[in-house]
Amino acid sequence: MSVATDTKLIAPHGGELVDRTVGERPEDLDSLETLELTSRELSDLDMLASGALSPLTGFMGQEDYESVLETMRLANGLPWSLPVGLAVDEAPRGDRVALSDRAVLDVEEVYAYDKEREAQQAFGTTEDKHPGVERLYAQKPLYLAGRVTVFERAESSFPELALDPADTRFQFAQRGWKRVVGFQTRNPIHRAHEYLTKVALETVDGLLIHPLVGDTKSDDVPAGTRVECYRVLLDGYYPSDRVVLSAFPAAMRYAGPREAIWHAICRKNYGCSHFIVGRDHAGVGDYYGTYDAQLIFDEFEPHELDIEPMFFEHSFWCKKCGSMASAKTCPHTVDDHVFLSGTKVREMLGKGELPPQEFSRPEVAEVLIEAYRTA
Ligand code: ADX
Repeated sequence: MSVATDTKLIAPHGGELVDRTVGERPEDLDSLETLELTSRELSDLDMLASGALSPLTGFMGQEDYESVLETMRLANGLPWSLPVGLAVDEAPRGDRVALSDRAVLDVEEVYAYDKEREAQQAFGTTEDKHPGVERLYAQKPLYLAGRVTVFERAESSFPELALDPADTRFQFAQRGWKRVVGFQTRNPIHRAHEYLTKVALETVDGLLIHPLVGDTKSDDVPAGTRVECYRVLLDGYYPSDRVVLSAFPAAMRYAGPREAIWHAICRKNYGCSHFIVGRDHAGVGDYYGTYDAQLIFDEFEPHELDIEPMFFEHSFWCKKCGSMASAKTCPHTVDDHVFLSGTKVREMLGKGELPPQEFSRPEVAEVLIEAYRTA
């Protein structure tokens, strides 16, 4: 089944938006073996349901899996950078299984996979200190592949922000937008984020602020607090007719460069023609170089991804310029620059101190302080 899309917007990845949802529970449900999914798998399932992972219609088979790891392309050659697998202990008994009372999967294949190899290819490391690798190592030993049909969508923690690709596309089309830039974030929004998104918005029709609300690592700021920050910032500092705020239901993988490609492809499905990639996108610790997530886009032919990345240098507040800037646009020395790390900000918030204006708008800082006070 596919959903009609507005022709002014970028086409979904692979050409058509997949829709794997149905309104009714299947009749054979009670007779099926049921598998319980992890929270990462549930996020992926929900994205399969909505078409956010178009052209995928289910969990990946071995041919696609191998091809993705080796070439960053599906077996048919379409760019795709990260595995989307459903891990199981053993092959199911029948040819259909129920998934967490939400979906059914038509079994196509069960295959063994090498966790260390997947770690190396997808994350660039086999160290289990890496949160994505740690989760991979904890997975069950086999992958179960097959098309999914979802009859019960996941409940969103932010129902008013839960827009499927068809919904964002509808909103963009209604506003007459053609060129839309998507912004991925998993952090409370700070001045650098504001700078990136506004500079990008200057050159396109609209902006999709698309915070990831699936699983993140435990020391990241919880999604509820972050969403509050996005709201106060948008209310005070962005023109409402140029911005859509919506939740991106994916789980964070922390795969840096490969995740940047994956994030871009997903946002293409939501209707974005452009995608912001700044410094250390989707990175963690010092596993990736500052601009690796930008360089990886060179591994694709021009226009192969179709969605256009918009790259940004590490940006900061410059006291002499009196504005946000980057090494590309500011001639002053580091002594004039305010760089604040997330760790430093968490320390300040922990002590009840307001991060400086140059780092965070006061309205956002207030939300964060309050969240820390009541945590
Ligand atoms: S991420 O894991 O979602 O990438 P984060 O929310 O910190 O983490 O970043 C969101 C986006 O903003 C990413 O594209 C990241 O590269 C970019 N970014 C964050 N801070 C800066 C900064 N100071 N300068 C340039 N880009 C930045």
